[in-house]
Amino acid sequence: MVSHKISVVGTGYVGLCTAVGFASKRYKVITSTHDPEKASLINRGIPPFYEPHLKKLLQKAVKEGSLKCLQNREEAILNTDITFIAVATPKQPDGSINLQFIKESACEIGEALKKKNKYHLVVIKSTVVPGTSENVVKPAIEKHSGKHCGDAFGLCMNPEFLREGSAVEDTLCPDRIVVGEYDCKSGDTLEALYKDFYNENLPSIVRTTLSTAELIKYANNAFLATKISFINTIANLCKRIPKADVTTVAKAIGMDRRIGPLFLNAGLGYGGSCFPKDVKALIAYSKSLGYDPKILDAVEDVNATQPLVAVELAKETLGNLEGKQIAIQGLAFKPNTDDMREAISIKIIEKLLQEGAYIVAYDPKAMQNAKEIFGNRIRYASSEIECIKGADCCIIVTEWGEFKGLKPEDFIQNMRQPCVIDGRRIYDPKDFNPRLNFIAVGMGVSKV
Ligand SMILES: NC(=O)c1ccc[n+]([C@@H]2O[C@H](COP(=O)([O-])OP(=O)(O)OC[C@H]3O[C@@H](n4cnc5c(N)ncnc54)[C@H](O)[C@@H]3O)[C@@H](O)[C@H]2O)c1
Repeated sequence: MVSHKISVVGTGYVGLCTAVGFASKRYKVITSTHDPEKASLINRGIPPFYEPHLKKLLQKAVKEGSLKCLQNREEAILNTDITFIAVATPKQPDGSINLQFIKESACEIGEALKKKNKYHLVVIKSTVVPGTSENVVKPAIEKHSGKHCGDAFGLCMNPEFLREGSAVEDTLCPDRIVVGEYDCKSGDTLEALYKDFYNENLPSIVRTTLSTAELIKYANNAFLATKISFINTIANLCKRIPKADVTTVAKAIGMDRRIGPLFLNAGLGYGGSCFPKDVKALIAYSKSLGYDPKILDAVEDVNATQPLVAVELAKETLGNLEGKQIAIQGLAFKPNTDDMREAISIKIIEKLLQEGAYIVAYDPKAMQNAKEIFGNRIRYASSEIECIKGADCCIIVTEWGEFKGLKPEDFIQNMRQPCVIDGRRIYDPKDFNPRLNFIAVGMGVSKV
């Protein structure tokens, strides 16, 4: 029988989107957080962060009574049959994974299950290194509940692949579902839930062991990060070859079905709350097993210096940056989000400030979060046009759709010196050159 009562621990991107996704299709969902302010926001239909479509779906779910947020986690668990754990798994100073929130959640779930007499399924959605479900979560729940896994409760590891910026869409329409299972009953219960939820749109389901599911998530993110660092390496090479252009290289190699066209956009590197921490965690985990994952070290090394390519290009064209006004278009780590965690804009702006530049920045959604990072060390513009007014150079840092609409005339009319550094390859060089000084990542020096 399929349960329609679900609880979700963790109210971030993964937790809230999972909760809202289930609530949008008649399931009764209880989320929980110890933060009263967050609970109050969610219960009023206001997401604590920006994500396209989330507000509308949350408001509907709250209004229809299919989703509520409690501060009492025990009550949330006791009144549901399946609990998803979607708490943060940040990195420790040495790059390894911090499992503190996972452990706390497992202990709380165990305490609640002590009082329950019916079978309960616990599903880990957070990204955790192999062995965590079996060796950390299971014993903690067993210890605190006094019950046995496989008996009174089941355990699955169900990695999440949603992308911030399209998190709701990805939740409702994933490429595939991975179900790592402690035992067959756990896997069957979760598979039945997803069959009921997705119905005729059910994606492929890969059923496997807990540790394989855990590794799949890391392998997935590490592979995507590798593709990015690979194409950025080719971009840096193109820059040194007259008339070479990385966008054409990427387009052509992407036509090879063995390679594929996605994730081959050269740029200023990857940031965000997942790729940097997951690559680091996989490196630390591999090393803890006595294996040196050289390719991942290289992926990280390329990414560490890639943001500075923007600063090098600015220096090449402007010379000394002291006192120069530089417009930064885009602050969030990617478009369609206000998330600034490990955004590469931070590295670029910090370096430009060190060089004595004067920064004016604009982002359609992340201004508030950016103010918490940069304070009054930079100036904030209220539009993409205001951002470039009087600037000596404009750097495209995040590929927001709004910026793609800017025309060469906008830069020519508004900037002190019309110089554009396209860090995300959003413009066609033919439209800009030779009307203004246009430079792009991965574009051979003498291509004019
Ligand atoms: N953001 C993404 O795009 C994404 C995609 C796939 C997987 N993941 C993984 O999913 C997990 C959650 O990521 P996120 O982006 O949603 O994180 P987030 O930072 O947006 O949210 C994490 C949530 O955990 C909560 N939390 C922290 N400690 C808690 C505790 N002890 N009990 C209950 N809640 C607690 C926080 O308050 C927050 O609501 C991480 O492991 C992440 O790597 C994230």
